[in-house]
Amino acid sequence: MENFTAYNPTKLHFGKNVTDKLGETILEYGKRVLLMHGKGSIQKNGIYDKVINQLKSINAEIIEYSGIKSNPLVTDVSEAAQLGKLNNIDVILAVGGGSVIDSAKITALAIANNSDPWAIMKYKVKPETTIPLVAVLTLAATGTEMNGAAVLQNQETDEKIGYITALSYPAHSFLDPEFTYSVPKNYTAYGIADLIAHALEAYFGEGDASLSDRFVEVIIKEAMEYGPLVLQNPESYEYRANIMWAATTALNGLTNYGRKSGDWGVHDIGHNLSYLFDTPHGATLTIAYPAWLKLQKDRIPERVKQLGNQLFGTNSADETIENLEKFFKSIDCPIKLSDINIGNDKKEEITNQMLKNKINGMAHTLSDEDRTRIVELMM
Ligand code: NZQ
Ligand code: ZN
Repeated sequence: MENFTAYNPTKLHFGKNVTDKLGETILEYGKRVLLMHGKGSIQKNGIYDKVINQLKSINAEIIEYSGIKSNPLVTDVSEAAQLGKLNNIDVILAVGGGSVIDSAKITALAIANNSDPWAIMKYKVKPETTIPLVAVLTLAATGTEMNGAAVLQNQETDEKIGYITALSYPAHSFLDPEFTYSVPKNYTAYGIADLIAHALEAYFGEGDASLSDRFVEVIIKEAMEYGPLVLQNPESYEYRANIMWAATTALNGLTNYGRKSGDWGVHDIGHNLSYLFDTPHGATLTIAYPAWLKLQKDRIPERVKQLGNQLFGTNSADETIENLEKFFKSIDCPIKLSDINIGNDKKEEITNQMLKNKINGMAHTLSDEDRTRIVELMM
């Protein structure tokens, strides 16, 4: 086991009606609130009204920035930061999935440090401080509600990249599983796939950490048991709650303590696919993971086999991959680019993107030959 520091400052409020305390929580930081949200789902499902009522109950001054898209853009963050600065806000309230919360994290840093958001994302500026962020999560997937990571894309530089800082843990996150009842089937499945992928990125990271491996295995088992059930019963509180908590624990540090790092090569591949085709994040991962495992299975056969043994009771690396593909298919996620209508005519473009951005993992580094091979395996 490697040395490690366990640190997670987010106060996470989980369960029915937890947002009843949203107003008083916001008041800890002030009354000038930058409310950030997405493209309208919260107006349709009633979450918006609940949030506004909470803000009204404390006589908050509400400054709103909406329209953040899935696979969020740095241009939106720049605009939100300008609005926040102009209005001298005290706190940001992000209501949505990973795209909204990630955008809010970088908006907070950009305002507090008077910096360009992309310079922060590229680690060209080192933020010293931030503005408090309160999150209301509406989609179980990314784990952003309890970590310091954010992912944005930039149309000018052809990149979708992640950024991590201890400053970006939300001060508070509110997770009411009922808020996820309205998440459509496809995004529910992508969220299940994403949380499994986060556990796998830890599992294929660097360093031996027995308990962290076991956390990975049980988190994936939880997702594989309750994922199909929640898809059949989208308004089951228990199933939504189990998946929501599993998604948080898959990327809040628990699966990583005692390792040097996770791998994150598959996420790098996925981000480049999302950048090119605006593919939802989880769907890129169910395409990229089988391809990555096929590339790695002769290099780390025991590790791939061990995973399958724990998850499916199988005894070979090939069976691990087959069963993982079978599971992804069973929840209607794509496992090949052709499943999302991306054909051979795009192969060169995808390969060039992967080569240009040098997609890579931290534990399993990739050569240009590997990058080209992975694209072939995804076709
Ligand atoms: O835009 P709105 O109207 O809100 O609709 C969203 C969007 O269309 C909708 N939605 C969200 N909650 C809903 C709902 N629809 C009905 N009812 C609800 N309760 O779902 C769609 C997808 O939302 P999005 O926020 O994009 O999904 P997700 O939470 O999967 O976030 C994906 C983003 O997070 C990044 C991804 O790369 C991607 O950009 N990630 C962030 C990570 C992190 N910060 O730690 C780690 C992840 O690996 C990931 O990379
Ligand atoms: Zn992810």
